[in-house]
Amino acid sequence: MKKSLIAGNWKMYKTPAESINFVSELVKNIKSYEDRDVLICPPFTSLYPVSKIIKNSAVKLGAQNVYFENEGAYTGEISPLMLKDTGVEYVICGHSERRNIFGESDEIINKKVKKVVETGMNAILCVGEKLEEREKGETFNVIENQVKRCLEGFDKFENLVIAYEPVWAIGTGKTALPSQAEEVHIFIRELIAKIYNKDIAENLIILYGGSVKPENIDQLMKEKNIDGVLVGGACLKVESFLRIIDYRG
Ligand code: PGA
Repeated sequence: MKKSLIAGNWKMYKTPAESINFVSELVKNIKSYEDRDVLICPPFTSLYPVSKIIKNSAVKLGAQNVYFENEGAYTGEISPLMLKDTGVEYVICGHSERRNIFGESDEIINKKVKKVVETGMNAILCVGEKLEEREKGETFNVIENQVKRCLEGFDKFENLVIAYEPVWAIGTGKTALPSQAEEVHIFIRELIAKIYNKDIAENLIILYGGSVKPENIDQLMKEKNIDGVLVGGACLKVESFLRIIDYRG
């Protein structure tokens, strides 16, 4: 059975001490589910202490970024081996904030995705259009280009999750309508079926991200092609994240 994935992207929030408090409370209060996985992606400085607390719990550990070399003179970067050794199972690649604030290109994201999977972790590839692209009717084009470029040479499709995150919905409080998200998810699934095959496409987990909150999670998860969510702001409070995890889809 394909499990859904509820992922929290903490972005640049929470010190190690705050992270420890948050995760201790999360682990204490989370219910057990057979049909969904729960993932948190804290900042690098919190990964190690958090990994100790979630060990033997239902919560998995993810990172928000990575570099695509194992080691070397790359001041300020973190390697996939370092993440793996810290207990990280998922790495977000190509979040729109990485693309738009830090200038990450599809080529760089492609190298990251491949390296993460090669290292034995799961990559969460983020794609999404900007508002002006949507308004010009370019949404599907933009998504197709991002998916194709970021997966170039990624021949054996495995350990990959795709997150559709329309840039205009991130941190803005403006959620895509469930039907708008569903339409793009179907497009992505069909594209993956064309590039790879139908089996891979059907088993692919496609997340929606962008102003997901307790008030809209149930509606989003009712859509057939939405297999989970990537949550930013609303995952920073235990109560709100627990409600999202506890969606009724
Ligand atoms: P948001 O962020 O939920 O705060 O809109 C989502 C994301 O950036 O992954």
